[in-house]
Amino acid sequence: MIHEPRRAESHGAGGADAGRRFGDGGLNLKPSGRQHVSESLEGGSPVGEVSVADAVFSCRDVSVFYGDKQALKSVTIDVARRQVLAAIGPSGCGKSTFLRCLNRMNDTIPGARVTGTITLDGRDIYSKRQDVAQLRARIGMVFQKPNPFPKSIYDNVAYGPRIHRLARTRADLDDIVFTSLQRAGLWDEVKDRLSSLAIGLSGGQQQRLCIARALAVQPEVILMDEPCSALDPIATAHVEDLIEQLRASYAIVIVTHSMQQAARVSQRTAYFYMGQLIEVGDTDRVFTNPQHRLTEDYITGRFG
Ligand SMILES: Nc1ncnc2c1ncn2[C@@H]1O[C@H](COP(=O)(O)OP(=O)(O)OP(=O)(O)O)[C@@H](O)[C@H]1O
Ligand SMILES: [Mg+2]
Repeated sequence: MIHEPRRAESHGAGGADAGRRFGDGGLNLKPSGRQHVSESLEGGSPVGEVSVADAVFSCRDVSVFYGDKQALKSVTIDVARRQVLAAIGPSGCGKSTFLRCLNRMNDTIPGARVTGTITLDGRDIYSKRQDVAQLRARIGMVFQKPNPFPKSIYDNVAYGPRIHRLARTRADLDDIVFTSLQRAGLWDEVKDRLSSLAIGLSGGQQQRLCIARALAVQPEVILMDEPCSALDPIATAHVEDLIEQLRASYAIVIVTHSMQQAARVSQRTAYFYMGQLIEVGDTDRVFTNPQHRLTEDYITGRFG
């Protein structure tokens, strides 16, 4: 049993305005009939602002090949600190591939090859000197399907800190577990059952546990690949509230199929299509005034 330090505040998700979460994020997804800055798929450069002032990641000309097949085509984009970037686009357009470039998870796929440059805080993450385990410790990853380890709730969260030796004493480890569960908005629901198996939690709780597990190694960036697609609307609202809170401390990249979710949780949106980055910019601008015809076709549902 671990003690609850007094200094921390409860971050219970779903506040007074949780109802707003079920709205459409203020979107007006009707075709506009406007002229676009760009209409074509050829030409390479995305429409919009690829660079940001305070970049955590800078991706330049990043391509990914699976064998002979090119899944990502010369993508150039920055990820900003303390901001949520939403990656949207039709199935198979390369969103997960893009995410996996950022923590070198494509390295684990036989036949996958990445070209171009990606820097994290100015350092090339594909440099020969980069320790991949250390890199992944700086980048938390949350997947579509909650994937708790077949261990207790406590041991799931303590797993990363143990491997990376982040705690000197058991009290330090307890503190990391507590803080991570607290920040993930799960503490109150699990504090009396920390030694129970994590697979006994509901799907939404398991996903917040996976987020707590990602937070426990004190990452700089959190990558989320459709983190809510297996959750009901209430669990989704919990996770969305959590993303909003986490943004104060982390850079977050979230892949989502829900444009409403992208509009609710992100400040910047990137639209991918057939391996290309088509458009990127402030979320409000991309959804209200898309400058590429393909972006508008997608967000207004005319894609097909
Ligand atoms: N391990 C792999 N081996 C070969 N091809 C792959 C592999 N993973 C992805 N691809 C291909 O790369 C392209 C991009 O896939 P990716 O999974 O990145 O798309 P996505 O945008 O995440 O799609 P979804 O929305 O369905 O998750 C697709 O054509 C896919 O078939
Ligand atoms: Mg995917």
